[in-house]
Amino acid sequence: MALLEINDLAVRFETNDGIVSAVNGVSFNVNEGDTLAIVGESGSGKSQTAFAAIGLLARNGHATGSVKWDGQEILNLPESKLNRIRSSEIAMIFQDPMTSLNPFMRVSDQMEEVLTLHRGMSRRAARVECVRMLDAVRIPDAAARITMYPHEFSGGMRQRIMIAMSLLCRPRLLIADEPTTALDVTVQAQIMKLLRDVQDEFNTALILITHDLGIVAGSCERTMVMYGGRIMERGPTEEIFETPTHPYTLGLLEAVPRLDRREEVLPTIPGEPPDMMRDVRGCPFEPRCPLRIDRCTDDTPPLERIGETRVRACHRSPEEVR
Ligand SMILES: Nc1ncnc2c1ncn2[C@@H]1O[C@H](COP(=O)(O)OP(=O)(O)OP(=O)(O)O)[C@@H](O)[C@H]1O
Ligand SMILES: [Mg+2]
Repeated sequence: MALLEINDLAVRFETNDGIVSAVNGVSFNVNEGDTLAIVGESGSGKSQTAFAAIGLLARNGHATGSVKWDGQEILNLPESKLNRIRSSEIAMIFQDPMTSLNPFMRVSDQMEEVLTLHRGMSRRAARVECVRMLDAVRIPDAAARITMYPHEFSGGMRQRIMIAMSLLCRPRLLIADEPTTALDVTVQAQIMKLLRDVQDEFNTALILITHDLGIVAGSCERTMVMYGGRIMERGPTEEIFETPTHPYTLGLLEAVPRLDRREEVLPTIPGEPPDMMRDVRGCPFEPRCPLRIDRCTDDTPPLERIGETRVRACHRSPEEVR
């Protein structure tokens, strides 16, 4: 049984200007210890997919479909029931650790609270466990530094602290939403390595949300590419990189800097992301797609299976795309 099983998830937001369709019919599974990357440009529905799954949508949002955690339906569960799962089984880390850390509290107090409140540990036992976890995320001299305030750490160190904190309750799933976007490239690489290490050590499943296909290679086993709130394709990361079957994935790959190519300006996908207010008929990528054909305008390509492990949604054949 999958740990997380999402079926036909849709998210709509009510706004003064009308309905925004942010996520449209998204389905995927995450198994115990699995690593899945969700990639796509800004606004493609990555975060709202995750937020809907764990009941964190903004007030004007509404989700339909099915989200099963450990076999149990959790979509639109009451807050009290969700809180139990969210505090102990699913953890989420965000782009900017400063928004999640309290600047006026010592790191020790913030971390220990998680264990004394949620796991009923004594202060003393909590301190030992927190230092151990800071060691695990390679904070040097953790035993002494744990009593410092968040601003006394660098951005990369703060993100490490967030990761340590999110792991304190030994979650079975960690959702990391752009965890390295605010960091420079070297620190990005360190944090990604760290995420892989803790994932190995604690057998935590990981959903990594990022707009940057570049950091996905080597860090996630599977990749799901989203555009306009829909899945464009999904499969083993290596295969997605080697044999992309969707024109949108091709475009994203072109925009990844490569060591064997030195260009002044990286190509970007021309055109504007879709207007999510419009009820998109056809393929959302159609207006920007270099391979578009007439039927793409009105006829939404269904998600079709190719081989054992891959799905894609495109009217062109995989051979035509390559
Ligand atoms: N509370 C809200 N009300 C109206 N629209 C919203 C709301 N929250 C998100 N949206 C819209 O939903 C769409 C999907 O947003 P989402 O946050 O999932 O994008 P994303 O893929 O995570 O992008 P990014 O890389 O910028 O974080 C966007 O068009 C966004 O403007
Ligand atoms: Mg986002």
